[in-house]
This record gives sequence, C-alpha cells and structure tokens, in this order.
Amino acid sequence: DRSIKIAPSILSADFADLGREIRAIEAQGADWVHVDVMDGHFVPNLTFGPPVVKAIRPHITTVMDVHLMIAPVDPYIEAFAAAGADIISVHPEAGPHIHRTLQAIRAAGCKAGLAINPGTGLDGVDYLLDLVDLVCVMTVNPGFGGQKFIHSQIGKVKQLHDMIGDRPIHIEIDGGITPETAPLMTAAGADVLVAGSAVFKGGSVADPAPYGENIRAI
Ligand code: DX5
Ligand code: ZN
Repeated sequence: DRSIKIAPSILSADFADLGREIRAIEAQGADWVHVDVMDGHFVPNLTFGPPVVKAIRPHITTVMDVHLMIAPVDPYIEAFAAAGADIISVHPEAGPHIHRTLQAIRAAGCKAGLAINPGTGLDGVDYLLDLVDLVCVMTVNPGFGGQKFIHSQIGKVKQLHDMIGDRPIHIEIDGGITPETAPLMTAAGADVLVAGSAVFKGGSVADPAPYGENIRAI
C-alpha cells in the first residue's frame, strides 16, 4: 500500500501516560505508531527497552514500528519481537553484519527495516533489498526530537525510490517532518512520514484535538 501514512513518534509524547497518548493519536488519525529505542551509546540519548515496548503493545491497534538506535543490536532483536513489534528497523552501523541482522528480524516474525543515517550513502543497499520491507531515510541525526530537517537527504530518497522500483518496500522518512518538509518527501517517493514534535505540539491527552489537526496538516 503506497498511500501516504503518518507515523507519530511517541518520543514527543508524555512518557508518564504512554498508553493514553497512543490511543489519542490513533483516534486522531495516526496510521502507524513509531517507537524510538535509544541506548545512550549508539545515540546520545536514552529512552526505554523491551518491557516498555511490551507494556504499550496492547494500546496499539495499527502498526507498531520500532526503530532501534542501539549497538550492538543483534542481542536484542528477539526481545523486541517478543515484546510485539510489527516492524523492527536497524542501522547498518549497529553491528558487523547488517545482512544477518535483517535475516534475524524476519526469522523472529517481524517485518524488517533498514535505517540510513544522514551521513551514510546507499552503497550496498541494493544487496539488502530482498531482505527488507522498509527503508528509513533519516533526515536528522538520530537521538533527539525537534531537530532541523536536513535537505541534502531529498536526493537520497529519489535515488532510493528509483533503486526500489516496483518492489513492495516502504520508504519511510524520520526527522524534522513538518507541513513544510512533508511534501518534499512525498514528491521524492516517500510513503511513511514519521513525525514527533510536529504531531504532539499544542495537544495533550486531555485535549487531543490538536494531534488530529497536526496530522492532517502534514
Ligand atoms: C530521532 C527519532 C525520531 C524523532 C523525530 O532520533 O528517530 O523518530 O522522534 O522527531 P521530530 O519529528 O520531532 O524530528
Ligand atoms: Zn525514529
């Protein structure tokens, strides 16, 4: 399904109230729920691990899209699959054998995603296309919400779109997505837009209507 999907990142949600935040964004039109896992090592920030992912699973009725920013990543694939991830995305820098890591994600019963940092090219990605259901182009350096969109990634998305051709692989964009940057990405071929700060701004579980307005504005 190549229709445009919005995947709010719960990195910008109220961590004390994740279950209700997730139900609110789904009620307001979120297509997927993007879950950012950070280890304070691969990226300079810490979020949460498999127990929290498992705890929020029952609150998600759409797609649980888990983005692992942890290294080494291989020892944790099974735990995140068992916690209920639908999609697990990993960075090639997070282990010595990205091909094997992607195989392990599918072997664990999940869809596999490859996340590409802004400073990483598409070399070698063609050898991985049979193993992935999604390629995530990072339009910020991973680690934090609310960063500025890196425009140089637009060409990468176009190149990736050409490389993928008619294979059933999603192109996801993560970082700095706003109503201004989203059209650049969909024009370049992206179909899944992750957005954290732009979705959650101005709303709350007590007043979730702004979430819906923000989603529709993207
Ligand atoms: C960054 C994360 C993103 C982040 C996006 O490391 O992978 O998912 O939450 O946040 P915004 O949309 O605020 O740039
Ligand atoms: Zn992310």
